[in-house]
Amino acid sequence: MSYDLVRGMNDLLPEEVAWWRLVEETIRDVARRYNYREIRFPIVEYTDLFTRGIGEATEVVTKQMFTFPDQKGRSLSLRPEGTASVARAYLTHGLQTTAPFQKLLYLGPMFRYEKPQKGRYRQFHQYGIEAIGSLDPSLDAEVIAFAWTLMTDLGLGGLSLRLNSIGCEQDRAPYHAALRAHFADSIGAMCDNCRRRYDDNPLRILDCKEETCRPFIGTAPGPVEHLCEECAAHFAEVQALLDRLGLDYTIDPHLVRGLDYYTRTVFELISDDLGSQDSLLGGGRYDGLIESVGGPETPGVGFAGGLERLVIVLQERGTALDPERVDLFIASIGDNGRRLAFELTEKLRSAGLAVEIDHRARTLRKQLALANQLTARHLLVLGEDEVASGTAKLKEMDSGEERDVRLDSEVLAAELADDRRGSE
Ligand code: HAM
Repeated sequence: MSYDLVRGMNDLLPEEVAWWRLVEETIRDVARRYNYREIRFPIVEYTDLFTRGIGEATEVVTKQMFTFPDQKGRSLSLRPEGTASVARAYLTHGLQTTAPFQKLLYLGPMFRYEKPQKGRYRQFHQYGIEAIGSLDPSLDAEVIAFAWTLMTDLGLGGLSLRLNSIGCEQDRAPYHAALRAHFADSIGAMCDNCRRRYDDNPLRILDCKEETCRPFIGTAPGPVEHLCEECAAHFAEVQALLDRLGLDYTIDPHLVRGLDYYTRTVFELISDDLGSQDSLLGGGRYDGLIESVGGPETPGVGFAGGLERLVIVLQERGTALDPERVDLFIASIGDNGRRLAFELTEKLRSAGLAVEIDHRARTLRKQLALANQLTARHLLVLGEDEVASGTAKLKEMDSGEERDVRLDSEVLAAELADDRRGSE
């Protein structure tokens, strides 16, 4: 009997992992330059953290969480995102008193019970940054600049940044009133979800993807029209700073995002390569989140993106990946040759080189085919003559050049290191 993969969850074979490592290394390098330090937190939290943090009425909480009781009947959930956990960790470790300003990076698996399709999975992976402890618009602009820098470093152009401000808690009531007034005549013709949202949280109506609802949504007022003076000034400054950097963005008056903790700035980076799941990353400010999970009033801003989606875009654009090469392949003939090959391989690996032999005792022809498959930089063939003389021909695979070398691990290590330096 064999087992199936759990729906919406994926294995990553080594060829695929090579892409992930490229993306992860680039993210870590951008984080280093922007001074965001990595935090790691558990995959499981008490369900209540997400219910209160992300919002009771959001799709993520009502429909998408993997929730289960522990042995004592407490409700636990697999994390559907990272921001609520970062807020929890900030409070768990008393950072609000010891080091209230934090710039944090995280990478890891997240879980949402969604209908799987290209770019949408039940176990997916996010990279995200969170800057906590300041209301300054420079932080909103920095977080957005981080996202652009990452895309530039990965060679991804042609993306579009959608930006909006949904204002503060106080702006919500007048905006909700304006939305209810706008939808008052049409709500009867809209979907069940929208009818529910009309009473609970009319802002969520703007997220509706139903064909029947879209025409009514298209003409709805945006939250920017209802910003208080402070929020309007904040949004203007975020834009002024982005303009300074020459970053391109479009104000999307209906961008509200799907999680309840957002205040003021919200944004998404969109790629045409992703089809319907076009959001490469999304984020914004969440000045009420830390308070809502039991902490003092503490502002924050950040974003998260899906690693799978970045890899898809890179692959679809035909980005070339450098092959992972071994420095040396040692082929051998006969028992003595094989033993010497084994010993040299171990010693050279200890000296820091990537070396491989054939562990299936096959013909020389098959061993050489394996050396090619591994795109080995160098090749040695050890037979009885080489064992007896203690020398062999070291072949440089790219140029085909050969030179005599002593079969001594230190000599070989120096030769290979020299070649590597030469080719860099
Ligand atoms: P989100 O928009 O729910 O925001 O998710 C962020 C990104 O995660 C999406 O743009 C997408 O790239 C990826 N993503 C989400 N769901 C899936 C899925 N089922 N399969 C594959 N990729 C997915 C958040 O999670 C917020 N915590 C972002 C944030 C951080 N806001 C402030 N700080």
